[in-house]
Amino acid sequence: MPEGRTAPQAYRYLFFEEGPLLQFWVRFHPNPQSETTMQRTTRWLAAATLLALSAGAHAQVNQVRVWAAACANCHGTDGRAEPGMIGLAGRNKDELLQQLLAFKNGQRPATIMHQLSKGYSDEQLAQIAAYFAAQKK
Ligand code: HEC
Repeated sequence: MPEGRTAPQAYRYLFFEEGPLLQFWVRFHPNPQSETTMQRTTRWLAAATLLALSAGAHAQVNQVRVWAAACANCHGTDGRAEPGMIGLAGRNKDELLQQLLAFKNGQRPATIMHQLSKGYSDEQLAQIAAYFAAQKK
């Protein structure tokens, strides 16, 4: 999904412009006359599941973005830092996570990150690391 879209724009894009969901719908939409109740129910369930999955994925991306936004003051928007500060964008996911965990458990001394990293679970740090690794440098 292209960057910088609001949620309504993203859904319009998904359903109507590019339309992978719409295409799926068209392909599996049978002739109504030949459809049994069972088939109709299955088709609706499949459509509802797809919708729920796409909404769930969207919510999860937004959650990571909120966490990552807390890093922007120091590491730049989406981890693209100003000169003189440490950038996070496009770096190796595992290395970022290792650093964050090292801050968290006190292995790596720090001025601030040892405190910040304690505010997240290991799983959240992994998601944050993956988010920054996926950003363009
Ligand atoms: C208040 C400023 C500040 C904020 C906010 C901040 N950092 Fe940092 N970050 C630092 C500083 C300073 C360092 C260098 C280590 C230290 O002294 O704490 C650092 C180091 C790091 C490093 C190690 C990078 C390297 O190359 O060694 C990572 C990874 C990192 N930060 C990730 C994050 C993440 C993820 C967030 C948001 C959850 C975040 N930081 C929020 C200031 C900040």
